[in-house]
Amino acid sequence: MRSPRRARIALTAAIAGALLIASTAAVTSMVSGGAGASDESAAAASLSLAPPTVATLPVPKVEQAPASTDICALPELTAALEAHDDAGVVAAAGGGEAFRSAVASGTAPCIDLADPSRVWAVVNKARAYAPIDYRPLGLVHPEGVRTAEGGSLRTDAAAALTVMVAAARTEAAGEVALESGFRSFEAQQRTYARHVAERGAAADLVSARPGHSEHQSGLAADVVGCAGSCGTFDDFAASSQGQWVAANSWEYGWIVRYVPDGSDVTGYSPEAWHLRYVGPELARAYHEGSWTSLEEFFGLPAAPDYAG
Ligand code: DAL
Ligand code: ZN
Repeated sequence: MRSPRRARIALTAAIAGALLIASTAAVTSMVSGGAGASDESAAAASLSLAPPTVATLPVPKVEQAPASTDICALPELTAALEAHDDAGVVAAAGGGEAFRSAVASGTAPCIDLADPSRVWAVVNKARAYAPIDYRPLGLVHPEGVRTAEGGSLRTDAAAALTVMVAAARTEAAGEVALESGFRSFEAQQRTYARHVAERGAAADLVSARPGHSEHQSGLAADVVGCAGSCGTFDDFAASSQGQWVAANSWEYGWIVRYVPDGSDVTGYSPEAWHLRYVGPELARAYHEGSWTSLEEFFGLPAAPDYAG
């Protein structure tokens, strides 16, 4: 969209150029945006006065575009932030893309991407939880979703998974089940140790070290497809459920966090089954912007490796 400032400059230049030529017809043509001859004649008749002298030329004013707005100055946004209403914060910012671009451009100092209790939290190999054994409040089992033992999520993520799983069923993709949701710091210690025992250093491509997993936030869901019995993670991408999730999960507030195009940034092999809840508005912006990592989405550095 053309900015008001650029429009003003263009208009001023057009008028000045026309007056230098001192041609009423030329003025008419430019003011009328190049209208047809009869329009020009009519307009010329109404502009039959001698052109104004140079002394009457308007002094060009080049106004500064307003500095990018600090969304944290918006009272509705700060109120929603204080009420821990994450969806309200994003809405007050003007929607998912407005929120994203404010954060990425550094004009949202009140938005803390390190706060694991927020849907916009970014946890990766370079961004551990603080405290390292952070534990979210409000963990529940998602209703209407087959879950492996202990499968729980934060309440907002659980509700969103319930809706998504029902939609997948309604749209004939099949049953989607929760294989692994919240994992405590201690549970991730066990998971990571198991991968190290199986793969050695390559464990870091498939498992987060304790204190670095999105599962510890209660906002990550590893899902599988079921038809009677349930399939494996490795089956998921090619399954009807996996294809449906890849195409539609954003509508329910989820992103597929580790995709092939994001590996250089995230440091993980693709995981079609690992969904991360960010809320519907951010998920929409992520989808519509064709983003492939949360790091790039928010303008953060790539985090393919651990610091030490
Ligand atoms: N598999 C993902 C990277 C995790 O362990 O959190
Ligand atoms: Zn996972």
